[in-house]
Amino acid sequence: MSSVDLNAKIPNNVGLADDKKLLRALEAWQPNYIDWWKQMGPEGFQEKDVWLRTAISVDADGWAHFDYVKMPDYRWGIFLADAQPERTIGYGDAMGQAAWQQVPGEHRNTLRRLIVTQGDTEPASVEQQRRLGDTAPSLYDLRNLFQVNVEEGRHLWAMVYLLHSHFGRDGREEAEELLQRRSGNADKPRILGAFNAPIDNWLDFFMFTMFTDRDGKYQLLALAESGFDPLSRTTRFMLTEEAHHMFVGESGVERIVQRTCELMKQDPNEDARAQGGIPLDMIQRYLSLWFALSLDLFGGEISSNAASYFAAGIKGRANEDKYAEHTGLDQVYRMAVPKDGGLSQDEVPLRNAMNEVLRDAYVEDCERGIERWNKRIAEAGIGYRLRLPAKTFYRHIGLYAGMPFDMDGRLLSAEDWEKGKGAWLPTAADREYVATLQQPVYEPGKIANWIGRPPRGIKGLPFEYEYVRLV
Ligand SMILES: [Fe+2]
Ligand SMILES: [Fe+2]
Repeated sequence: MSSVDLNAKIPNNVGLADDKKLLRALEAWQPNYIDWWKQMGPEGFQEKDVWLRTAISVDADGWAHFDYVKMPDYRWGIFLADAQPERTIGYGDAMGQAAWQQVPGEHRNTLRRLIVTQGDTEPASVEQQRRLGDTAPSLYDLRNLFQVNVEEGRHLWAMVYLLHSHFGRDGREEAEELLQRRSGNADKPRILGAFNAPIDNWLDFFMFTMFTDRDGKYQLLALAESGFDPLSRTTRFMLTEEAHHMFVGESGVERIVQRTCELMKQDPNEDARAQGGIPLDMIQRYLSLWFALSLDLFGGEISSNAASYFAAGIKGRANEDKYAEHTGLDQVYRMAVPKDGGLSQDEVPLRNAMNEVLRDAYVEDCERGIERWNKRIAEAGIGYRLRLPAKTFYRHIGLYAGMPFDMDGRLLSAEDWEKGKGAWLPTAADREYVATLQQPVYEPGKIANWIGRPPRGIKGLPFEYEYVRLV
């Protein structure tokens, strides 16, 4: 196991103390990072004590320490999962070769771009969510928001470490630019479109952490297979933190669903809205939107880039060892491809369909969450089911971009799409209504009317615990 230096200015298990040049470069970047955090991190709560977990090791048990901390004093560290001795690349043309401890020259630009693109989403999400603290439904939720935020900050550190340690001057420049782009800024936007719109209500936040953080999970799983071993080790540790982000989203929506059902039963007309809740069909529209936006993040269905990443051993499939065959050659993926104004079934060489393979694994994971939510609705004795729309629904990237599919994947006329979309996606009226519910509840043990209490608090503490000290 790698030893952890917790007392260093930058806590780490990568032996920073022994690499003075790298240490100096990262210590020069650190104050700029803190400036960015103070400017763009959670607004209005920087001086408050928040009960947060901090990564202090990479042991499966006991990797985190919990205590009150003011967010700018959070100990953002650099942690790589333990090296797997004699690790080899498990797929593609490079299968069986030793994993790379240094960046191979021919893959330098590709790896840099992948690391920068992943890295850019981390601060972007903090920026998107920076005003949510003003309207938290409880102190428990407020704390979870900040936990997600500080860990996205640490994920930026994880990517910046790779840039500084393996990409020389270009890497240092990229690391600076990661602090200069701003979500939603017209001149210097974040790289991916989905990370440029503010998240200004908690329904969007929970859907984001359910669906968009889960895209992150699958990208990290694919990068954990990378032949570039430092990237693999970094992403493997990030996945342990990421699990909590998806818990926040999945359990957040679950608590909304449960509360909606409770309110329906209290109302003579089963009208959740009349009782101040969020109706199930409205939840469905937000779900459909965030699922579609998150599917786009996997990229085009047919992609020569995806094929070459797989061939070269740069990016694999999620949990590559679960597949029986690892070359991806002489196999096809069947998909519906737009043709003559309709769709026709086509066979795509499997390597070119790797984005779609990753997207399928993601969809299956999402299904599991939806089933959990539906169980709560069924337990309440209510005859309604939430569902994922078709993969083709409301897409902006890839084969189906801009095509008017309904939720069942039927291709519509532009006119029928216009007529139907108000039933499928959040409307202006939905947004107005959800906005009216965004009122803070900061009293320990209290919670907003539109969401249920969690069955338990954090780390064995009760829900009533003062997770954020506001006075
Ligand atoms: Fe992240
Ligand atoms: Fe995350």
